Amino acid sequence: MRTLIVGAGALGGVIATRLAAAGASVWVATRTAQAAAQLASSGLTVTGVGGAARFRAQEVAPLRAYDPARAFDLVVLATKAHDAIVAGPQCAALLGEGGTLLPIQNGGVAEVLAERLGEVRVLGGLSNLGATMVAPGVYEQRNAGHLLIGELSGARSARAERVRDWLGRGIDVVLTRNMRGATWSKLMINCSVTTIGALAGCTMREYIAVAGGRELFHRAYDEALSVALATGATPERMLVDPVPPGWIGRTIGGGETDAWLATILSAYGGVKPSMLQDLERGRPTEIDFINGHVADVGNRLGLATPVNTTIVEIVHAISSGTESPHPGLLQRVLAVCPLRTARDTSGRHSSTPS
Ligand SMILES: NC(=O)c1ccc[n+]([C@@H]2O[C@H](COP(=O)([O-])OP(=O)(O)OC[C@H]3O[C@@H](n4cnc5c(N)ncnc54)[C@H](OP(=O)(O)O)[C@@H]3O)[C@@H](O)[C@H]2O)c1
Repeated sequence: MRTLIVGAGALGGVIATRLAAAGASVWVATRTAQAAAQLASSGLTVTGVGGAARFRAQEVAPLRAYDPARAFDLVVLATKAHDAIVAGPQCAALLGEGGTLLPIQNGGVAEVLAERLGEVRVLGGLSNLGATMVAPGVYEQRNAGHLLIGELSGARSARAERVRDWLGRGIDVVLTRNMRGATWSKLMINCSVTTIGALAGCTMREYIAVAGGRELFHRAYDEALSVALATGATPERMLVDPVPPGWIGRTIGGGETDAWLATILSAYGGVKPSMLQDLERGRPTEIDFINGHVADVGNRLGLATPVNTTIVEIVHAISSGTESPHPGLLQRVLAVCPLRTARDTSGRHSSTPS
């Protein structure tokens, strides 16, 4: 498969290098001519989990310099979400007949691109592989994770199997018939673990211990889960059961969820949120494709998502410099979005997210 990796950042760099080291023909697209020249001269080096590998790309060029006549069989879109939405159509134009575009961003990117370009062109993907870019062309693989890929329709397809086998030469790839469900499960965790950590300016373990931390985690998660279920998706079990114990459209307080939450904390509690790193570096965040995706889809389905909507607004305020991450922001979100007791509406004595 003639393969183009678009985006030579952390994930794109690792995937390109490992695939090339396994003997595949790989081309790399950068955003700028300067980045392409730098990579062409330095090559790409990966260290970390999975061992060291090196790749002197046969061709690295800015995306706009690739000629559609190149007719790639596979384009792996490994930019951040906002760039993927812009670059997606350009990438699709580089595909040959029967070629596949594989976006691997968190959030709703594959679905948005499939709506615009057609599911025939777009295969769903997401990454459980963790990577960082130490310097341009220098990457570290951080875990033994895999790429999860599958048709968004849930159908079994020969092309998904071909892509799995092909990319599987270099990295672990797992095929799923529940791509939408898996995407929602990861999104639910990103909405609550990554984003709330970014708001609070700390790790999940730290923010869950401050006033409002645990409540906000559950409120953001509950809204995302409600929207996921309303789309007809069946969120996939990943680290934990996607539906918290005793869930009734909201998480029941008390100790029912202690063990469930402890499992999430054990995996992600000490990780510095990637969105916080983006904020600290003054880089655009993926908030519109994470909590923003929950709000957009909820809006389309007539489901209120006040917590996720407020979180999106505050993250934008941080990006524009009018706010800074701090734990007090968690209480601010809760104050803007009070829980409506059912007594307010139906006379029942439980509370539901407003
Ligand atoms: N890294 C991880 O461990 C990890 C794990 C799970 C999921 N993800 C998801 O995977 C996606 C990629 O993450 P990442 O960490 O690899 O991001 P990253 O390190 O920021 O890399 C993105 C790369 O894409 C390049 N790019 C942007 N627009 C482009 C264009 N039009 N054409 C070609 N290249 C372009 C960027 O170049 P410039 O710097 O010049 O803009 C950058 O090198 C994100 O959605 C992220 O949430 C990442």
